[in-house]
Amino acid sequence: MAEIVLRKTNERIKGEENVKSFLEDQGVLYEHLDTNKLPENLQEKFILSDSEKEKILDVFDAEIRSLAQRHGYQRWDIVALSDATPNLDELLKKFQQVHVHTEDEVRIITAGKGIFTVKGSKDTGYFDIELVPGDVISVPVNTPHFFTLMENRRVVAVRLFIDAAGWVAHPYEDPDF
Ligand SMILES: [Fe+2]
Repeated sequence: MAEIVLRKTNERIKGEENVKSFLEDQGVLYEHLDTNKLPENLQEKFILSDSEKEKILDVFDAEIRSLAQRHGYQRWDIVALSDATPNLDELLKKFQQVHVHTEDEVRIITAGKGIFTVKGSKDTGYFDIELVPGDVISVPVNTPHFFTLMENRRVVAVRLFIDAAGWVAHPYEDPDF
């Protein structure tokens, strides 16, 4: 289950109901899936062959199609990041710039961990969503955010898109950040 850290106060929000209601108030879609149905060898694997990626998409096919149907996503793929990823440090530096997209940014974490830092309401300010396997998150369109890894520096996630143009990150200069 995801946990939230408010950057202004360092307050940590835990527990399914608290996390869900906080994210709902901020307009962030949050769901949680059962990753135990993923074959054990794929629950902790961060270098994936094409057939392993297909297998992960296959295991979560019903959940992916349900999300796609509810929110209009047209395509999906798998992204895997770890210390085996070429230029991981440079990639992370690039990732950690506040930006917006012209569509939601949706991820289903299937292994490892990740953080979305999102700009909340005026009172709330920026908050971190610490994601674990099974977490489904959708950062709303035009909401300033960035993604990074946690201390274990590895993640596997399903990405869902409406249109290829929605992948583009538009930098967002924010004096509040
Ligand atoms: Fe993004």
